[in-house]
Amino acid sequence: MSPLTRFVLPALAAASSAYAASCSVSATSTIQNSGDATGLASCKTFTGSIAIATGTTDSIAINGVTKIQGNLVASNASQLQQLSGDSLEEITGTFLLDDVQVLNTVSFPKLTKVNTIRWNALPNLQTLAFTAGISEAAVIDIQNTQLQTLQGINVKQIDSFTLANNRYISEVNMQLGNVSVSLVLEANNPEVTVSFPNLEWASNMTFRNCSSVDVPSLTKLNGSMGFYGNVLTSFSAPNLTEIGGALAFVSNTELTNITLPQLTVVNGALQIANNTKLSKINGLPKLKTIGGALDFNGNMSEIAIPALNDVKGTFNIQSTGDIQATCDDTFKPLKSKGKIQGSYTCVGAVANPGGEGTTPTVTGGSAKKTGAPGAANNVQVQGAAMGLVGLAAAFLL
Ligand SMILES: *[C@@H]1O[C@H](CO)[C@@H](O)[C@H](O)[C@H]1NC(C)=O
Ligand SMILES: *[C@@H]1O[C@H](CO)[C@@H](O)[C@H](O)[C@H]1NC(C)=O
Ligand SMILES: *[C@@H]1O[C@H](CO)[C@@H](O)[C@H](O)[C@H]1NC(C)=O
Ligand SMILES: *[C@@H]1O[C@H](CO)[C@@H](O)[C@H](O)[C@H]1NC(C)=O
Ligand SMILES: *[C@@H]1O[C@H](CO)[C@@H](O)[C@H](O)[C@H]1NC(C)=O
Ligand SMILES: *[C@@H]1O[C@H](CO)[C@@H](O)[C@H](O)[C@H]1NC(C)=O
Ligand SMILES: *[C@@H]1O[C@H](CO)[C@@H](O)[C@H](O)[C@H]1NC(C)=O
Ligand SMILES: *[C@@H]1O[C@H](CO)[C@@H](O)[C@H](O)[C@H]1NC(C)=O
Ligand SMILES: *[C@@H]1O[C@H](CO)[C@@H](O)[C@H](O)[C@H]1NC(C)=O
Repeated sequence: MSPLTRFVLPALAAASSAYAASCSVSATSTIQNSGDATGLASCKTFTGSIAIATGTTDSIAINGVTKIQGNLVASNASQLQQLSGDSLEEITGTFLLDDVQVLNTVSFPKLTKVNTIRWNALPNLQTLAFTAGISEAAVIDIQNTQLQTLQGINVKQIDSFTLANNRYISEVNMQLGNVSVSLVLEANNPEVTVSFPNLEWASNMTFRNCSSVDVPSLTKLNGSMGFYGNVLTSFSAPNLTEIGGALAFVSNTELTNITLPQLTVVNGALQIANNTKLSKINGLPKLKTIGGALDFNGNMSEIAIPALNDVKGTFNIQSTGDIQATCDDTFKPLKSKGKIQGSYTCVGAVANPGGEGTTPTVTGGSAKKTGAPGAANNVQVQGAAMGLVGLAAAFLL
C-alpha cells in the first residue's frame, strides 16, 4: 500500500455529510469543507489524524485546536488554496502536504513542534506564515515547492533533513546543532547559499548544486560527507577533526580551495575527482589516516598531504598536471614502507585522468600501468555508495 493510500482510505471511510465533531477518533477525520473545520474548534487537543478531502474547494481553517495528536494531511486536494490554524502549536505525527497544486497559503502562526514535515509537489507555495516558527522537528523533507525561503522553520537538532528540487530557495540558514541521520540538499536554486553556523556534528551529509556551504563549528562527521556538482569556489571546515565514513568532492566545477586544517582521520574513502579548476590540494596539513581508498583525479599541479602515513585501501592519483616528482618523492616511499596497503597508482601528465581501477595514459607516451586495478574492491564500493545516498533521497515519497 502506498503511503498515500494509507492516509486517504481511512479518511474517506470516516467521512460523512452530517459531520459531528469528535475530539478523538481512532483513525482519521476527514474535512470536506470549511464547516467541518469549524466544527473542530471546541477541541483543544484533537486525538487522531485530520485529512483534507481531495475534493475540498473551500479554504480550510482549523481554528481553536492547539494540538493534533496524530497527522495533518492534505494529499491530492487539487483545489485547496489555503490551509490555516490560528491556535495550533503542535502536530505529534506527520504534517503531510502532497500534490496540492493550487495551495498558496499555509498559515499556522503558533506552530512550533511537528514530528515530521513531508511536503512534496506544491507548485504554488512560495511563503510560509509561521510567525512563531517551527523550532522542533525530527524529520523535514521538502521537495518540489516554490518556496523562496525557509523562514518559519529553524530547528536546533534533527534526524533527517532533505531539501530537494525547490528551484527558488536561495538561502538556507539554520541554528541546527546536529544531524543524527542525514542531511541532503540538492537541485534547489543553484545560487543557494548554505549556512549552519552552529552545526557541531552530523551523520551523513550530501550537498549538490549549492553555491556555498558554511559550517564553521563542524567538528565531526559520524558518517560521510559528499559535495557533488556544486558551484562553490571553496570549502573550509576549520574545526573538523574526524570523518567516520567517506569524504568526497566530485564535479564541483568552480572549486579551487579545500581547507581542512584540523582533519586527521577519514575512516572511509577520500575522493577528489573531476573538480575542473582545482589545481592544488594542499589544505590537509594534519591528515594522517585514510581507512578506505585515496582516489584523486583532475587537473592538479600541486598535491601535499604531509602527515599522511596510513592508507588502508587503494591509492590512486591521476592528474593532467605535472605531479610525478611528488608521486616519486613522497607517495611512493609510503607504498614501499607498507603504509599504503592497497594497490598504488600515482601518475602525472595523464591525458584523461580516471578514478581508481582505471589505467592512466600519459600524454604523448605509451600506456603506463603502475598499479593493480581491482584490488581493495570493498573500499571502492564505499566511495560509490556515497553518491547513492543522495540519489535515493531524490526519490523519497
Ligand atoms: C488525485 O485526484 C484526481 C482527481 O480528483 C484523481 O483522478 C487521481 O486519481 C488522484 N490521485 C491520487 C494519487 O489519489
Ligand atoms: C544537538 O544540538 C542541540 C542544539 O545545539 C544541543 O542542545 C544538543 O545537546 C545536541 N545533542 C547532542 C547529542 O549533541
Ligand atoms: C556523533 O558524534 C558526536 C561527537 O562525538 C556524538 O556526540 C554523537 O552522539 C554521535 N552521533 C551519533 C548519531 O552517533
Ligand atoms: C573551534 O574549536 C575551538 C576549540 O575547540 C573553539 O574554541 C571554537 O569556538 C570553535 N570555533 C567555532 C566556530 O565553533
Ligand atoms: C546538480 O548536480 C548534479 C551532479 O550532482 C549535476 O549532474 C546537475 O547537472 C546539477 N544541476 C544543476 C541544475 O546544476
Ligand atoms: C583557501 O581558503 C582558506 C580558508 O578559507 C583561506 O584561509 C586561504 O587563504 C584560501 N587560499 C587561497 C589560495 O585562496
Ligand atoms: C569524471 O569525468 C569522467 C569523464 O567525464 C567520467 O568518466 C567519470 O565517471 C567522472 N568521475 C566521477 C567520479 O564522477
Ligand atoms: C581539466 O581542465 C580541462 C579544461 O578546463 C577540463 O575540460 C577537464 O574536464 C578537466 N579535467 C578534470 C579531470 O577535471
Ligand atoms: C551513511 O551512508 C553510508 C553509505 O554511504 C551508509 O552505509 C550508512 O548507513 C549511512 N548512515 C546513516 C546514519 O544514514
